[in-house]
Amino acid sequence: MSQKVTLIATAAMGLEAIVGKEVKALGYEDIQVENGRVVFTADVSAIPRANLWLRTADRVKLLVGKFKATTFDDLFEQTKALPWEKFITEDGEFPVVGKSVKSKLYSVPDCQAIVKKAIVERLKQKYGVASWLKETGAFYRVEIALHKDEALLTIDTSGSGLHKRGYRVGQGEAPLKETLAAALVQVTNWHPDQPFVDPFCGSGTIAIEAALIGQNIAPGFNREFASEEWDFIPQKVWDDAFQEAEDSANYDQPLNITGSDLDPSMIKIAKENAMEAGLGELITWKQMQVSDFMPRQENGYLISNPPYGERMGERESVEEMYRDLGTIMRDHPSWSLYILTSHEGFEKLYGKPATKKRKLFNGFIKTDYYQYFGKRSKDKSNTGKGFGFQK
Ligand SMILES: C[S@@+](CC[C@H](N)C(=O)[O-])C[C@H]1O[C@@H](n2cnc3c(N)ncnc32)[C@H](O)[C@@H]1O
Repeated sequence: MSQKVTLIATAAMGLEAIVGKEVKALGYEDIQVENGRVVFTADVSAIPRANLWLRTADRVKLLVGKFKATTFDDLFEQTKALPWEKFITEDGEFPVVGKSVKSKLYSVPDCQAIVKKAIVERLKQKYGVASWLKETGAFYRVEIALHKDEALLTIDTSGSGLHKRGYRVGQGEAPLKETLAAALVQVTNWHPDQPFVDPFCGSGTIAIEAALIGQNIAPGFNREFASEEWDFIPQKVWDDAFQEAEDSANYDQPLNITGSDLDPSMIKIAKENAMEAGLGELITWKQMQVSDFMPRQENGYLISNPPYGERMGERESVEEMYRDLGTIMRDHPSWSLYILTSHEGFEKLYGKPATKKRKLFNGFIKTDYYQYFGKRSKDKSNTGKGFGFQK
């Protein structure tokens, strides 16, 4: 029987339920969806699988222990009582980071130092080391997170955040985080055989994430994870997870995805990013004004993150664009439209109340995700191009 571990998939505010669904789709059942995270217990193979497959989580952390701590003595003794040697090798390098919210132990540097000392003592005892630990081996980023006097001790399994898929070679001024872009696609009912358009594609994040979802390509396939170096996860477990990702990818799935943007330099960047993601020429990229967008097929999905009009002098032109979009889409009721913006007047400018709205944060910006469900048309002859020029 292989080792059971408790994992924490961290999530941006508002995305917890989506991360929870993803964890469930990976076959895990013992799942708790909480504020900012999804906690689940699974076999150790969940570490590679969660890192490779979770599209909307920020990181995957390994839970080492959780306890109440109101004094430094509490923190030291209970940290020392945890089985760190199960995870960290004798030569492991383990910096300690920390945070504290609404807790008696509020000095984060002190908490970090105490946790570090407690783990050092534990490992020295367990490994029979009299002098100091070398810390020249694999990397284990330990975190002490205090919230209302409850201490949570974790080790980060991901390394860099999971939004770093390894394909972003270029970006514009306001790129969407890959994890959020994937979430925007995942909350829709888009199927890979339906037309998909992002007319404000910027560096192409939403279209690229849609293509990865459409062909069931694991988002972490092109990158490395800190826990690949860890001895307690057998190499075979990693090999099996990568093999599973390779076998699950459906490279033959045809896609009908288009990204367009007014700015030609963005189109160049989007193309390079898609190439780097291994998508080759699968996505159609076009330099185009949104006002020239004209759907030529039925039952398409327009999913986009347009400018919000928050910058000086930008508001009027942005409002004009939202109006244009409303005018164009009025003639295409079979299309579903999904727009992420912080502009509170969107529905009014677009000319119609959304079927559904969802509050989301784009970084620190409070946004709404306006969702308009299309009326499915029976004419499914989705041949030809997703859209073309109006004139
Ligand atoms: C917020 S950014 C999109 C960022 C994108 N989601 C990404 O991840 O890189 C908005 C984009 O809209 C484009 N844009 C602005 N006005 C436009 C217009 N009238 N028609 C089409 N694109 C426009 C900008 O060039 C910019 O790339």
